[in-house]
Amino acid sequence: MSFRFGWRLPVVAGTLIATALFAGTSALAADPAAIARIEARASAVAQRLASVCPLAAPNDKAAFDRCRNALFGDPVVTAAMDDRIVWGGIQYPKAFKDWELTVFSTDMFRGLYLSLFGFTGRHTGKINQEGFYQVDFQARFRNGLAAGEYAYPFWHADPKWRGYELTTSFTVYFDVDTEKMAFAFRARELELAGPAQAPVTLPWDGKWMWVDINGQTQPVITLFEDMLSTGNPLIPALNVSYRELAEQMRQSTCMNCHVPNNPKHMNRLSLLQTPNHAFGEADRIVETMVKQRMPRDDANLPVAMEPAAMERFLVLARKFEGDVRAAREWEARNGKGPRN
Ligand code: HEC
Repeated sequence: MSFRFGWRLPVVAGTLIATALFAGTSALAADPAAIARIEARASAVAQRLASVCPLAAPNDKAAFDRCRNALFGDPVVTAAMDDRIVWGGIQYPKAFKDWELTVFSTDMFRGLYLSLFGFTGRHTGKINQEGFYQVDFQARFRNGLAAGEYAYPFWHADPKWRGYELTTSFTVYFDVDTEKMAFAFRARELELAGPAQAPVTLPWDGKWMWVDINGQTQPVITLFEDMLSTGNPLIPALNVSYRELAEQMRQSTCMNCHVPNNPKHMNRLSLLQTPNHAFGEADRIVETMVKQRMPRDDANLPVAMEPAAMERFLVLARKFEGDVRAAREWEARNGKGPRN
C-alpha cells in the first residue's frame, strides 16, 4: 500500500506555499487511479524521450538539435507539465524544503535543460518519502557540447557540473493531485551500462553571458533567435523590449539575487540573467512588481522604489511580457521549433 504524507510544497502563482497538508503526520492514501494515470503518462513520456532524444555521443550537436527541436513544443511531454517546474540537484541529507532549486517556465525548461540529456526509455516509478510519485528516467548528460549550448556556465561551481556529468537518471516528482511534473532533478537513481563518460573541464571567467572571438553573444542558446522558430516575427521586438528591461533590472538591483550562483540562497530561485530566462519569467516579473514584492534589501525585505522608477519599470516589463505572450501565441500556431 502506498501513502503520501507530511508536508508538500506546490508552487502556486509562483510562490512557495506550505499547504494545509502540512498538518503533520496524517497520512492520505494516494488514489490508485491517479497513480495509474501518472504511470501511463510517465511511460508515454519515456517513449517519447527515447525516440526524439536517444542516447548519443556527448558532443553530438545534431542529436542535441533534433532533441531540442522536438521537445520545445512536444505535445506528450508538454501534457505532463504545468506552466512551471522546479529543477535542481538532489540535496539529501538536507530536508527537502531546504533544497535550493530553480523555478522555470516549462517551455524554456524543455529547450534549455531537458534537451541536454539523452534517454534510453527505461524508467521506474514509486511513491517517494516526500509524498510524490517519483519517476526515474534513465538518462545521460551531454557534456561535450560547445560552452554556449548550456544555459549558463554550469561549471561555475565544480560540484554542480560534476553532478550533471554523473547523472544516470532524470528524476521527476509528479504531484499526485495535478498528475503533472512538479519537480525534476539530475540524479543517479538508475545504473547506466557502458563506460563512464569522460569528464570535461571548462574555464569560467565570472560572467553569465559573454561575447566570443567571432563577436557572437553567448550562451547562444539563451538568445530568442536560437530558441524560437526562425520565422517568429516577434524576435526583433523582443530583442528591443528585453534590452530595455534588462537595463532597468540591473539598475534596480534584480541581478544581485536572480543569478545562477544564488547568492541569497533562495529555495526557489528564479533566473533573470539572460533573454530566454527572462522570457520564461516575464509574467511573474510584472506580477511581483505590481504587488511591490521586489526588489529586496539584504535582509530580504521589499524595498520601495521611487514612483517614477517604478512606473518606468512597469511600462518596460509589461511591454516585454506582451511581446513574450505574442511570441508564444505565434509559436503555438506556426512554430517549427528552435532554429527552424
Ligand atoms: C535581495 C535579493 C533580491 C533582489 C534584489 C530581488 N529579488 Fe526577486 N526574489 C527574491 C527572493 C528571496 C524571492 C523568493 C520569493 C520570496 O522570498 O518571496 C524572489 C522572487 C522573485 C520572483 C518570483 C515571483 C515571486 O514574487 O516570488 C520574481 C519574478 C522576482 N523575484 C523578480 C525580481 C525583480 C524584477 C527584481 C528587481 C526589481 C528582484 N526580484 C529583486 C530576492 C530578490
